[in-house]
Amino acid sequence: MTKTADLQQLARDHLWMHFTRMGGYRGADVPMIVRGDGCYLEDANGKRYLDALAGLFSVNIGYGFGEEIGQAALEQMRELPFYTNWTYAHPRAVELAAEVASLAPGDLNRVFFVSGGSEAVESAWKLARQYYLVRGDKRLREHVGSSPERRHDAIFANLRTPTRRYKAITRHTAYHGTTLGALSLTGIPAIRVPFEPLLPEVRNVRNTNRYRRPDGETEEEFTADLLAELERTIEAMGPETVCLVHMEPVQNSGGSFVAPVGYWRGVRELCDRYDILLSADEVITGFGRIGAWFASERYDIRPDLITSAKGLSSSYAAIGAVILSDEVAAPFLEEGSMYTHGITFGGHPVQCAVALKNIEIMKREGIVEHVRAEEGAFRAKLETLLELEIVGDVRGAGFFYALELVKDSETKETFSSEECEELLRGYLSHAFFDAGLICRADDRGDPVVQISPPLVATEREMDEIVGILGTVLAEAQRRMLG
Ligand SMILES: Cc1ncc(COP(=O)(O)O)c(C=O)c1O
Repeated sequence: MTKTADLQQLARDHLWMHFTRMGGYRGADVPMIVRGDGCYLEDANGKRYLDALAGLFSVNIGYGFGEEIGQAALEQMRELPFYTNWTYAHPRAVELAAEVASLAPGDLNRVFFVSGGSEAVESAWKLARQYYLVRGDKRLREHVGSSPERRHDAIFANLRTPTRRYKAITRHTAYHGTTLGALSLTGIPAIRVPFEPLLPEVRNVRNTNRYRRPDGETEEEFTADLLAELERTIEAMGPETVCLVHMEPVQNSGGSFVAPVGYWRGVRELCDRYDILLSADEVITGFGRIGAWFASERYDIRPDLITSAKGLSSSYAAIGAVILSDEVAAPFLEEGSMYTHGITFGGHPVQCAVALKNIEIMKREGIVEHVRAEEGAFRAKLETLLELEIVGDVRGAGFFYALELVKDSETKETFSSEECEELLRGYLSHAFFDAGLICRADDRGDPVVQISPPLVATEREMDEIVGILGTVLAEAQRRMLG
């Protein structure tokens, strides 16, 4: 075992942490987490933290099942440590695909495994791009049948898609991952700009930020306005060139934006009208976070595709999946047809064994039901923080909330970027951590504090979260608002 002091030096010399201002650690210790149990983590100095972010919105069963999941991984290692899903199947991938299909809503029955969320998103977009081609081929074959002379007619009848569909629509401020394809779908300028030019052609429409809408606007007006913009965007891009609308059921970046009434029905209708695939990015919301196995089920989104990762294994393994409907899968299942895509570790047997065990634990412990039963209590506790002037809004669902921070809760005046820097990175991030709470203070949109604990959190942990938030935010208020 390497000693703590040596680990610090080795980390400073060799480890490159993700999305981290590394210069800040030149003379300082990096935060070093060494173990976890339940909703808690412990650092190298023995200090404990309540992890109100569940790792990265992902350790749904908490940190306490390492023994049991490790045993499943060990057994799989003994039986078959690796084999691929390229051309071959193996029992754990088959079992997991069947399990995921049984949990997914509607006819989302086919599962393509990958190694994480960004890969799932990339794969969904590639799948949508290829879908129209293989569907065109299928229709052509059906029309031509055994009569080659009908081929000419068919081409004239436009049965083969005449234009390639490759464009996608996502929402402002939404995070869909960091690999180039997924980044191209991401609507956060600060993380896109250094890597431009990105993939053509993605347009962002407005997200469902209710808090920043005009006072007095009804839910129906809000929905109608959002849908009208989506339709205008499809028309402007050329509907025959758009293959994908990709959206989170509850948008994380910007702070847990829940859609208004009628929104998902309207998005589905527009996708149907213009023959565009609808993809629900459930990398965070899947596997219980919103109090259902999939948020698509809770909100009746009826997507053609779901992208999923994090909660699929509660992050005990690096596994993600694209789940697709029978209708989307159909042309790919024709003789001679193929989704021209694959990843070495997609459907890795050990990752699948871990994900299967995770789902077994979630069912046995009633975790999805627990979230649904406790979400009201959790929200009510968080809403007590609205008494603070600096807390303008509490929003979200299930165990997935955000507090929006404002200068004035009456006028909703927000902080300038310099003030955000001082508030979020200058004070809050450190203050939460020092107080033993891991959560995220973020300003990809307006400044928010994001709360997304393991789904095993009980009222005791909720009280502790709200207690620390209250103390730290009261001090932030004193500093920023006087
Ligand atoms: C909605 C959403 N999609 C995709 C991703 C990318 O997932 P990963 O970090 O596993 O690549 C994330 C990650 O946070 C996410 O929140």
